[in-house]
Amino acid sequence: MLDSDVVEHFFEDVDIAKLVDPQTKFFTAILGGPAEFADLRLAAAHAQLNVSHAHFDEIVTLLNQTLSDADFTLEDLDTTLAAVKARWSIIVRYYYAITGYQLTAYSVHQCRHLHCRG
Ligand code: HEM
Repeated sequence: MLDSDVVEHFFEDVDIAKLVDPQTKFFTAILGGPAEFADLRLAAAHAQLNVSHAHFDEIVTLLNQTLSDADFTLEDLDTTLAAVKARWSIIVRYYYAITGYQLTAYSVHQCRHLHCRG
């Protein structure tokens, strides 16, 4: 993420060490582990960040590469990426609020961005 021109600026003032614990809990939760991670918390963490579709796709791509490099099984990789992609509107959402885009007129089915395909 820190080497990516697309998303690097988001993490300039972030203490990465403090992200490890919540992110571990999030991924444990979506893989059916003992942790829980509320969507509301995910929304709150990203609400002020003005995340666009392009940013979201970049993070999904980086995640895919990282988990593949970490020898995730294909099944765990699929489960993880599907769970992450399913939450795009929680993370990208605020972008529409501040650009004036009508969220009500938008749904996952209309979305043709990378994370919503296939
Ligand atoms: C792709 C799906 C994503 C997932 C699953 C995810 C997950 C998370 C989690 C679990 C946290 C910690 C929340 C907490 O502390 O309670 C977090 C924080 C954060 N995320 Fe994401 N994230 C995603 C996408 C993005 C994108 C696209 C960006 C920006 C390009 C981004 C930027 C950040 C930043 C900057 C923080 C730290 C916020 C702060 O400390 O104030 N995330 N993310």
